[in-house]
Amino acid sequence: MSEEDKVPKTALNLMLELIVGRKKELKLMIRAVEKGLPIIIEGPVGTGKTEMAKALASSLDKLFVRVDGDDSLTSIKLKGWYDPPLVIEKGFSRETFIPGPLTQAMEEGGIFFYNEVNRAPSETINAVLTALDENLITIPQLGEIKAKKGFISIFTYNPQDTVATNPLPKAFYDRCVWINVTHQTLEEMLQIVKLRTNSEDSLLNQISCEIVEATLNHPELEYGSTVRGAIQLVSLLLGEEKLEEEILITYVISVHSRKIRCKTTSRKTEEEIIIEIVSKILSKYDDNDRISRKKEN
Ligand SMILES: Nc1ncnc2c1ncn2[C@@H]1O[C@H](COP(=O)(O)OP(=O)(O)O)[C@@H](O)[C@H]1O
Ligand SMILES: [Mg+2]
Repeated sequence: MSEEDKVPKTALNLMLELIVGRKKELKLMIRAVEKGLPIIIEGPVGTGKTEMAKALASSLDKLFVRVDGDDSLTSIKLKGWYDPPLVIEKGFSRETFIPGPLTQAMEEGGIFFYNEVNRAPSETINAVLTALDENLITIPQLGEIKAKKGFISIFTYNPQDTVATNPLPKAFYDRCVWINVTHQTLEEMLQIVKLRTNSEDSLLNQISCEIVEATLNHPELEYGSTVRGAIQLVSLLLGEEKLEEEILITYVISVHSRKIRCKTTSRKTEEEIIIEIVSKILSKYDDNDRISRKKEN
């Protein structure tokens, strides 16, 4: 065992093994947890919001209860409900009450993680707000359940997600520590891809991340793709000896074309933009024998 292994790792060190970059944000998250403050992580899709919350939970070794926002998640599902056959047998009691994820996290002093909270119905968000305010929830017939010390809530929110979502009330931000994340640099994306795919194919990793970066900076795109697309492309092509432009284009279209969106002012399609991006990136590697370029007609 090395000297380093003997020293217990701090939560931050553990998180840094799971998350590339974001050191300032991770430190802030740990501090917020120590102070019992709820956290909301805001950012576009694929920026590591869910991964950061999961990393925090695993580095703190706490019960982690996750729910994903959708419009069927009512406050009853969140708090808990009574089991009808048991109630007939034993009446209303803690024994016949089946706690929902919020109650479970409160009773055990764990982490309540609400992913994509803006997809929740506003009635559910109000129930969560009450729980944040008073650190307790009221259950009919049972009364109040108080949160055990250590209970903490983490939320994620993608403001660009506008389908079936509700804007979060001001009161929500008023109670939370807000952490904003955006897409990471090319260098960081390369590290993320390596971490997630174990790929040592530096050319494939590089091309895959450059494609994502090109979509993120493209003037004709309303929004670009995400590092998740780079991870997918590397996973799909890992082990390929040759990288043929035509095949690559098929894969890149499959991975990225529905992750990006053209501006309404653009006359091109997403597919056309992808073909241009791939061609431009490959032209930088023209002298690499692994790459075979498309023949011009
Ligand atoms: N900073 C990062 N460090 C490690 N992995 C990351 C990072 N950012 C994103 N990822 C990876 O990229 C993918 C998308 O991240 P995710 O947390 O699901 O994004 P979001 O929740 O913001 O949509 C996941 O596979 C995740 O592991
Ligand atoms: Mg997510």
